Amino acid sequence: MLERAKRLIVPSGRSAVPAFMVMDVMAAAARIEAAGGHVVHMEVGQPAASAPACAIEAARSALTGRRLGYTEALGLPSLRARIARHYRECHGIEIDPERVVVTTGSSAAFILAFLALFEHGDRVAVAVPGYPPYRHILTALGCEPVLIETNAASRWAITPDLLLDAHRATPLKGVLIASPANPTGTMMTGAAIESLLHLAQDEGIAFISDEIYHGLEYAFPAETAARLSGNAVVINSFSKYFCMTGWRVGWMVVPPELVRPIDRLQGNLAISVPTLSQIAAEVAFEGRADLEAVKLGYEENRAVLLDGLPKAGLERILPVDGAFYLYADVSRFSSDSLAFAKAMLEEAHVAATPGVDFDPLHGRDFIRFCYAGSIDDMHEAVRRIARWLGGNSQRA
Ligand SMILES: Cc1ncc(COP(=O)(O)O)c(C=O)c1O
Repeated sequence: MLERAKRLIVPSGRSAVPAFMVMDVMAAAARIEAAGGHVVHMEVGQPAASAPACAIEAARSALTGRRLGYTEALGLPSLRARIARHYRECHGIEIDPERVVVTTGSSAAFILAFLALFEHGDRVAVAVPGYPPYRHILTALGCEPVLIETNAASRWAITPDLLLDAHRATPLKGVLIASPANPTGTMMTGAAIESLLHLAQDEGIAFISDEIYHGLEYAFPAETAARLSGNAVVINSFSKYFCMTGWRVGWMVVPPELVRPIDRLQGNLAISVPTLSQIAAEVAFEGRADLEAVKLGYEENRAVLLDGLPKAGLERILPVDGAFYLYADVSRFSSDSLAFAKAMLEEAHVAATPGVDFDPLHGRDFIRFCYAGSIDDMHEAVRRIARWLGGNSQRA
């Protein structure tokens, strides 16, 4: 009977999405640390800092001071209004709070956006290299991710020509961009976003903009797709600039036509986003002083790496415009970035993420460093990598 029951449990094909290979690197780092080694961690893409003090305080008093029931499926009205105000303050644009949806991190926003916009089998363009869950969520939902290969000539972003080529080959229903992007840290100019968005909308392709790294730009100010069109789906989160990864709260700005469908979807899929996190998120906007100090730390870290890594031998680095990532070409040393990352960890005790996690086409040539840690760690990483790569020989 038990045997028969076991045979009935066959995981679905749609659940067979790839796991992050960085998990291998993290497990190896944990083994080194258990044996007493000190690893400089640059593999995980999250702030080392905590949420702003005012947000933590708001959560503490809400825990004892009020009942934490469900909220409206679209989110606490006061938080939706505060997010709309954020667009006025940061971008000088008016957003109707009715178009703002609070989500369980931006991760849940992708699920809601894809379900609300696409049918089974629809093709959606994503950049490569890019954040892997875009592809994997689309696949799990029965859509087809269409990988658009980017390079230095396209400034590591999808251009109108690249989008049109893919669309002419087989029609697309959507395109998703990120600026600043993960893993590259590169940004698209406002003009580049605008021309891509106009082409997409002329061709009837839904435009989704992942703006999770907004606030963390160093090269030039980030443009929001919300300014350019009321039809774009904008996704953002409290995880990165606001240092609230574990609170699992994010948001979307959606066209009016999508509000009710997303309301229905979220109500069924999750009922609502954790209330405690929504309360803290609303207050987090007042923690700018803390958050700007954290951002200043990233800028200092970035400067240390931009000065030190080329001297250490990693000269070819993609434009480090924003977020807290640096994507370096290691092909001079290895044709297998996973082996390179493992060797760098074991021999130099510096943990970074192999490009294969982000790019099935050319990821074997790249490594992603996250510089959201301390400046001492950045100096230490540069010293260790310089020593390790010294001699410029083939490393892995
Ligand atoms: C580009 C990008 N989008 C979305 C996410 C998901 O973040 P969250 O669900 O914490 O908002 C991440 C996380 O690393 C990311 O790098």
